[in-house]
Amino acid sequence: MRSIRLGVNIDHVATVRNARGENYPSPLRAALLCEKYGANSVTIHLREDRRHIRDFDLKVIKKKLKIPLNLEIAPVKHMVKISLKYKPDYVCIVPEKRREITTEGGLNLKKKSNLIRNIIKNLKKENIRISLFIEPNLSDIKLAKEIKSDCVEIHTGKICNLLNQGKKYTIELDRIKKAVNFANKIGLEVHVGHGINFSSAKVLSKVKGIKEFNIGHFLIGESIFIGINKSIKKFKQILKK
Ligand code: PXP
Repeated sequence: MRSIRLGVNIDHVATVRNARGENYPSPLRAALLCEKYGANSVTIHLREDRRHIRDFDLKVIKKKLKIPLNLEIAPVKHMVKISLKYKPDYVCIVPEKRREITTEGGLNLKKKSNLIRNIIKNLKKENIRISLFIEPNLSDIKLAKEIKSDCVEIHTGKICNLLNQGKKYTIELDRIKKAVNFANKIGLEVHVGHGINFSSAKVLSKVKGIKEFNIGHFLIGESIFIGINKSIKKFKQILKK
C-alpha cells in the first residue's frame, strides 16, 4: 500500500528565529530532521519581504537536503531568477500580497496565464516540477493544464476553517472532490495545502486522487509539544492509505 506523500513546510521555524534576530532555531536543522523522520519533501516559501525564509536558508537547505526541496515563489521575474540559480526540485507558484498574514487564496490564473505560462516554460528547462496553487475550481484547473503545469495544489484554507469552527463543510468538500477528479482526468497531479491539522488531514485523506499534502504551521506548532518526529509520524499515519 502506498501512502500519500507528506511535504513539510518549515517557514515558521524561520519565523521564530527571526523574532529574536538570532541564528536559532535553524531551518536547515528542521529540514534535515524532516528528512530523517520520513517527510517526502520539504517546502520553503521565499517571500518577497523575506519575513521568514531568507536567501541563505534556501542556499544551505538546497545544498544539504537529500529529499526533494519544494520552493514556493510569487510569479515575479526575480523569484524565477533565484529559482533558476538554486534549482530546487519543485517550484510551487503562489499569489503573494505584502500585507497578508499568509497566502490568502489561490492564483488569479485568468489574469496571469501568459506570465505564468512563460515562467513554467523557463523552469521546466531545468527539469523543475511545477505546481500552481489554486482554488478548487474547474476553469483554473483547465487553464493550469493548458499552460503546461505538472501539478496543481488546491488551497484548503476554506474547508479547514469550516472544520475548525465546527461548521458544515460538505459543500466545500464536494467542490474539492470535483476539482481533484477533473484534474486527474486531464492528467494533472493533485496536491493540497493550507491550514491542515490532524482532523482536516483525516477528512481530506479520504478524497481519492490526492498525491501530496503540504503542511506547515500546525505541524511546526505541534512540534513544540510532541517533537517534530512525532508530529511528522502522526501525519504520516493519517496519510497511509
Ligand atoms: N501550501 C502552500 C502553497 C502554501 O502557501 C502554504 C502556506 O505557506 C502551505 C501549503 C502550508 O500551509 P500551512 O502553513 O497553513 O500548513
